[in-house]
Amino acid sequence: MNQHEKKKMSRDTTSSGPEEYQTHPFPPLYDKESRILILGSFPSVKSRQQLFFYGHPRNRFWMTLASVLSEPVPVTIEEKKAFLKENHIALWDVIKSCRIRGSSDSSIRDVVPNDLSEILSGSSIRQIYCNGGISWNYYHRYQEKKTGLAAIKLPSTSPANAAWSLDRLVREWRVICRPLQAAPSGLGDSLLSWYDYHARTLPWRSDPSPYHVWISEIMLQQTRVETVISYYRNFLERFPTIRDLAEGDEEELMKIWEGLGYYRRARHMKEAAAQITDRFGGEMPSDYDSLRSLPGIGDYTAGAIASIAFGRRKAAVDGNVLRVYARLLGLEGDIGKTAVKKEISREVMRTMPAERPGDFTQALMDLGAGVCLPNGMPRCSECPWDTACVAHGTGKEMEYPVKKEKKARKIEYKTVLCIEYKDRWLIHRRDRKGLLAGLWELPNLEGSFSAEGLEELIKKWDIRDYSLTSLGEGRHVFSHVEWRMRGYRLVLRQPLPSLPEDGEWLMASREDLKERYAVPAAFARFRPGQS
Ligand code: ADE
Repeated sequence: MNQHEKKKMSRDTTSSGPEEYQTHPFPPLYDKESRILILGSFPSVKSRQQLFFYGHPRNRFWMTLASVLSEPVPVTIEEKKAFLKENHIALWDVIKSCRIRGSSDSSIRDVVPNDLSEILSGSSIRQIYCNGGISWNYYHRYQEKKTGLAAIKLPSTSPANAAWSLDRLVREWRVICRPLQAAPSGLGDSLLSWYDYHARTLPWRSDPSPYHVWISEIMLQQTRVETVISYYRNFLERFPTIRDLAEGDEEELMKIWEGLGYYRRARHMKEAAAQITDRFGGEMPSDYDSLRSLPGIGDYTAGAIASIAFGRRKAAVDGNVLRVYARLLGLEGDIGKTAVKKEISREVMRTMPAERPGDFTQALMDLGAGVCLPNGMPRCSECPWDTACVAHGTGKEMEYPVKKEKKARKIEYKTVLCIEYKDRWLIHRRDRKGLLAGLWELPNLEGSFSAEGLEELIKKWDIRDYSLTSLGEGRHVFSHVEWRMRGYRLVLRQPLPSLPEDGEWLMASREDLKERYAVPAAFARFRPGQS
């Protein structure tokens, strides 16, 4: 293009053509979820032809917004509409009608301003921004008094403001993130830099094979890292490969899991290992949907495995991540609600850098575990996100996350018996369904028995020669129930007349209890050798 053509082109987009009377030819874009309103002055010729906002190819509006919000640049009008809706952005212009020469803002005369009241009452606008000084001047002159809201002037994205580089525009436009409750770009990189220095050294991190990551992630659900480490090592020693797990003995698996709780996790792993063998040739699948299709692998675990083991850009959102983002963005919604979880997943994806998604996932875990603490004051001075964090900026760290009180746990009273005869102890296999399904337990009765009450029962069981001593009280908290237990040691001097008929009972040796039968932690307080 020669100089003459260049000049002509620039005139075409700004001040060429006769002055014309124009009425805004398309409607505003907003919905009740819109959080900010961006006001332009009046659509350019290109936008008037396309009947949509910012249609001139050299207007950097879409590029700027996409960069600020770490999203791909929307191209079609449909993509632009979806982008605005998903990011809660409303668009409109300050001028309803005017005289204008082509696209030239500076030629505008005889302005009739738009009425903004309908948009403001039909949305959740927290902040108004003006794209450029001309829009801001009109807003200030005609609309500010009516709305009662001061608008923030942002540098114009129009081709007429070519002196501003895209980088500079993006830097200024980043202010929109705060009212949008969107994570500003750049946070992913700062978290990774922090992680490079502060990553915890954990056994599954030294060799993050898909199988290792899977085991660790399942064990780490509801369980502290410090507890998991020795279980993880024992597990791998006994089941070093997926095939070993698929073909392993279930009783042995339960024994290895003993004390870790939520035993269903282990059974699911075994089922999943069998499916991986059958359906995926013994190799853990690498894509999110296949992972998600395996027993015991939910959204969180699929995201963790996909990102950590396979380097895929997938979010892994657990309670720690919900807390970190609720604080970062000042989210008022209950983090137990699906909509809030979805919003946070989206923000995790926004912050996740293109490189090192697995490190990013693990960095978030370390940030949640060591800095953005769940109980007590977070250690904000050590946080790489402190300056961006809304909760920290407003001094309201402890007010987030918002979480509805859980229903109180049901309390069940029990009497647990450690029944001993000649160095063997009576144990019973629990029902195959329900709490602690299929695991072994010490015999127990519903209700809290006194020694006298218990002695009456013992008589009824035809047990004559014995000694009964108290083992004191114990408590065990499950996710939905709490057991309050009273324990007794019943030492028999004659064998039991008979084993009870219901279910599976046996007299286990000390060796059996140590090596063979899984007796969950709820009974630990009353096991032989504990008192
Ligand atoms: N919590 C859940 N997954 C974790 C991981 N991979 N590292 C540390 N803590 C975790």
